[in-house]
Amino acid sequence: MSHSEPQAAVGIASIGVQLPPLAMDMSELAQLRGADVNKYRHGLGCDVMALCPEGYGVVDLAVGAAKRALGRWRGDVSDIGLVSVGSESALDMSRPLSAWVASELGLRGNFRSYEVKHACYGGTLALRQAVEWKLANVQPGKAALVIATDVALYAEGDPGEPTQGAGAVAMIVEDGLVASIARASYPYSEPAFDFWRPVGCAFPLVEGPLSLDCYQRATAACYEQLLAGEAEPFARLMAYGAHCFHVPFPKMVKKAVSMLGQAFTLDEGQLTAFFEEKVQPSLAWNKQIGNAYTASLWISVADQLRRLAPGTIMTAFSYGSGFGAELFEITAGPECARGAWARDVESDLASRRLVKASEYTKLRSGERRVTASVPPAAAISA
Ligand code: CAA
Repeated sequence: MSHSEPQAAVGIASIGVQLPPLAMDMSELAQLRGADVNKYRHGLGCDVMALCPEGYGVVDLAVGAAKRALGRWRGDVSDIGLVSVGSESALDMSRPLSAWVASELGLRGNFRSYEVKHACYGGTLALRQAVEWKLANVQPGKAALVIATDVALYAEGDPGEPTQGAGAVAMIVEDGLVASIARASYPYSEPAFDFWRPVGCAFPLVEGPLSLDCYQRATAACYEQLLAGEAEPFARLMAYGAHCFHVPFPKMVKKAVSMLGQAFTLDEGQLTAFFEEKVQPSLAWNKQIGNAYTASLWISVADQLRRLAPGTIMTAFSYGSGFGAELFEITAGPECARGAWARDVESDLASRRLVKASEYTKLRSGERRVTASVPPAAAISA
C-alpha cells in the first residue's frame, strides 16, 4: 500500500508557497488578551501566527506563490489553460480573484479563469476540478494553475484569534512529477452553520463547538468510505506514508485522529502510533503559520511530500465549513524528494518580522481600509 511505481499520471508538476512578511508569537497575544500562553501553545497547538502588513493581502500571497511555482516549472504562462483560485477571502462578489492574479502575471488569452468558494475546502475543490479538467483533456497540452490563498482574521478577542494566520500555495496541475492525484475520492457534505461570513461582515461568525463536531464527523464519514470493508483498518492506515488534514489549529487534527480511533476501534497504543508516525510530522509548518484556511491542508501536504520516497502513497483530508469535506490519495512523484518549495517556506519564515502586541493592535485598527478594493482607473481601461 505505501509504495507503487512512480507514475507520470495527472497531478502536481510544481508547487510554490508564499507566506506574508509579518508574524506574531503566541506569547504576545496571550499577554494582550490576559490569557495563559499554554492554552494557545498546548491547548490549541499554535506557536506563531502569520500576519499581513497594511496593504498586503490575498492577491500578493497568491501571486507570490504562483510566481514561485511557475519559476520552477518546465513550462511557461503560455502553457496555462486554466487559472483557478480557491479562497474565502474574496475581494469582490463578482470579479474573481483569478482576474487579479492573471493581471499580475500578465496572462490573457485562451484560458479559463475563476474563483472557487467553499470555506477552507475551496482550494481542494479548485485542485480536484483542475485534475478532472486535465483528465478530460479538453485543452490538450495545457496545464492548470491552481492557487489556495487566504488571510484568516477573527474579531479582536474572539476565541478564534489565536488560530489566525495567512499564506498561499500554488500548484501547477499537469503531470505527476511532484505528486499524482488519485481519480477516486471520498467526499461528504452536510449543510450546517458552523462557521460562516455573511456578505458585508469583516469577520466570520463561529459556532466553535459545532465546528469541531462537524469537522470530526466529516473525518469519520470520509475515512469510512476509504476503509469500507477493510478487515484491518489500523494496518491499512499505517500502510500509508502519511495522512494530512486541514489544519484550522493543530489540536483539531489530533481530535480528528481520536475520532478515527473511535470509528475504527483503535486502542490507545495504535492511536498514538498513528498520530505520531503518520500525522504529526506534517504539522510543523502549520504551527509556525496558523490557519491559512484554503491553504492550510496544502501547506501540510507540501511539508510532508518532501519527506516521502517517490511512489509512497499518502492521504489528504480537506474540510470546509458549511460543510463539505473530501479525502483522497496522493502519490509522491519523482521530483518530490527535492522538495524545492521548502526553500520558499524556509526563506519566508527566516525573513519575516515578528511584531509586538502594540504593533498588532495598530495593524488591526487599520485593516478595514485594506479590504476596500476599488480598482485604479488604469486597471479598468487596460
Ligand atoms: N493550558 C493548556 N491547555 C489549556 C489551557 C491551559 N492553560 N486552557 C485551556 N486549555 C485547553 C482546553 O482544555 C482545550 O483543550 P481540549 O480541546 O483538548 O479540551 C483547548 O485548550 C481549547 O480551549 P477551549 O475549548 O476553552 O478554547 P476556546 O473555546 O477558547 O476556543 C475554538 C477554541 C472554539 C476552537 C476557537 O479557537 C475557535 O473558535 N476557532 C475557530 C473555529 C475553528 O477553527 N473550528 C475548527 C473546525 S472548523 C474548520 O476547520 C474551518 C476553519 O478552518 C475555521
